[in-house]
Amino acid sequence: MVSCEQVLALLAKAFVLITMLPGSEQGAHEKRLLKNLLDEYNILERPVANESEPLEVKFGLTLQQIIDVDEKNQLLITNIWLSLEWNDYNLRWNESEYGGVKDLRITPNKLWKPDVLMYNSADEGFDGTFQTNVVVKHNGSCLYVPPGIFKSTCKIDITWFPFDDQHCDMKFGSWTYDGNQLDLVLNSENGGDLSDFITNGEWYLIGMPGKKNTIVYQCCPEPYVDVTFTIQIRRRTLYYFFNLIVPCVLISSMALLGFTLPPDSGEKLTLGVTILLSLTVFLNLVAETLPQVSDAIPLLGTYFNCIMFMVASSVVLTVVVLNYHHRTADIHEMPQWIKTVFLQWLPWILGMGRPGKKITRKTILMNSRMKELELKERSSKSLLANVLDIDDDFRNVSAGGNNASMTTSLGGGFMRHPTTIEEAAMPSSGTQRDLQHILRELQFITNHMKKADEEAEVISDWKFAAMVVDRFCLIIFTMFTIIATVAVLLSAPHIIVQ
Ligand SMILES: *[C@@H]1O[C@H](CO)[C@@H](O)[C@H](O)[C@H]1NC(C)=O
Ligand SMILES: *[C@@H]1O[C@H](CO)[C@@H](O)[C@H](O)[C@H]1NC(C)=O
Ligand SMILES: *[C@@H]1O[C@H](CO)[C@@H](O)[C@H](O)[C@H]1NC(C)=O
Repeated sequence: MVSCEQVLALLAKAFVLITMLPGSEQGAHEKRLLKNLLDEYNILERPVANESEPLEVKFGLTLQQIIDVDEKNQLLITNIWLSLEWNDYNLRWNESEYGGVKDLRITPNKLWKPDVLMYNSADEGFDGTFQTNVVVKHNGSCLYVPPGIFKSTCKIDITWFPFDDQHCDMKFGSWTYDGNQLDLVLNSENGGDLSDFITNGEWYLIGMPGKKNTIVYQCCPEPYVDVTFTIQIRRRTLYYFFNLIVPCVLISSMALLGFTLPPDSGEKLTLGVTILLSLTVFLNLVAETLPQVSDAIPLLGTYFNCIMFMVASSVVLTVVVLNYHHRTADIHEMPQWIKTVFLQWLPWILGMGRPGKKITRKTILMNSRMKELELKERSSKSLLANVLDIDDDFRNVSAGGNNASMTTSLGGGFMRHPTTIEEAAMPSSGTQRDLQHILRELQFITNHMKKADEEAEVISDWKFAAMVVDRFCLIIFTMFTIIATVAVLLSAPHIIVQ
């Protein structure tokens, strides 16, 4: 039989055993340890055993995320964990004396910690870190890993936008200690730790090397130490390619299409102006995407300006084409240079032909020679004609008409000699008069038709000149668009980064 007392004794023993377990007693040890460590602790004291030796701080960082690259304000916003490791000789204890307590977590405002700050911070509070606990080991080693959203200044060069690489420095150093008091050392040769990096949709991370710089200024003997990490990022261009460049190329090729539209359709100018408008609206949207910086013109901006210029000049030239197309003989005479350039040389260069008129080098040269001859002839002929005209008129008036002279006299001659009743009434010369009358009418009609033919010729010349200008613009602007696009793409350091 087990008595009640025995059961109670067993329970008491079990209780004592449970309370004797090492874990359960740690609380008391830790309390004693903290009391012993921190009662005499002065957080202002630089924790080195030998004052003339620097305290070595191992520094590193882990890049978690690139949150934003602000081109306009020249800022880089990142999510980073710093890592600072040093040895505090005041925080050492013998673990077996404190029930095996190996490490402690102590809030940083109770301990000395290196005043390492990011020099190029643009944060409102300057230091954007969250003050986490410091892990202190029994041999005095302290590990402090404050995470933070860092807003750092970064000189962003948008010359090659959107094919640009950016190098953003992050300079860390002790704000007050010099290199003889606090020595920063990189904790890893590879620079920043990127194993936890969350990829960014806009930027591709190339790398994040770190470098320790020791600078001795002329003023003072002590060295100044800093650790600089460089975030190397490359813009992903796929978005810009498919949302900016491809639509722009499409819109500009629409402008080229305008040159193939026949002027008689009446839509030529409308098409040009509509394309110019749509490009303007499109560029307005693009302007919001482009970095609003004036110190450099981005490559894409240059390209868009070229295309805009091209479309605007296409509208101007369409007006010229329409103007040429609708010119008529009674208002415009075709200047000689237009004849030479737009009716001969350009069509020959562009390989254009007119129905019934072959244009080759030979015909052009022949034409110019003919013109010279014609000019010479006209100058001599006009004199002769004048003489003849006067002669004719004189003979017409005196002899009352002559068949041979009538054929040489022009329409004006007819007007100057209206048939009178007395003349028609004369029986002897009646039939002759009628014949003369018919002849004059015929002359009038043929002259009229000749004139109409000449006018039609001039109109057709103008229309052909307009067509030549159109074709010339089409070729030039197509070449311009292709060259501009290819030049932009070739001058970019890299084209597609996904
Ligand atoms: C402190 O360090 C300096 C230089 O390293 C050395 O000369 C000096 O002896 C050291 N003092 C002590 C007390 O160890
Ligand atoms: C820690 O304390 C134990 C017992 O008090 C002792 O035997 C040991 O040598 C000490 N260790 C060190 C490193 O001082
Ligand atoms: C302190 O102890 C840890 C292990 O507990 C060891 O990794 C570290 O190197 C030691 N540091 C020093 C300065 O002895």
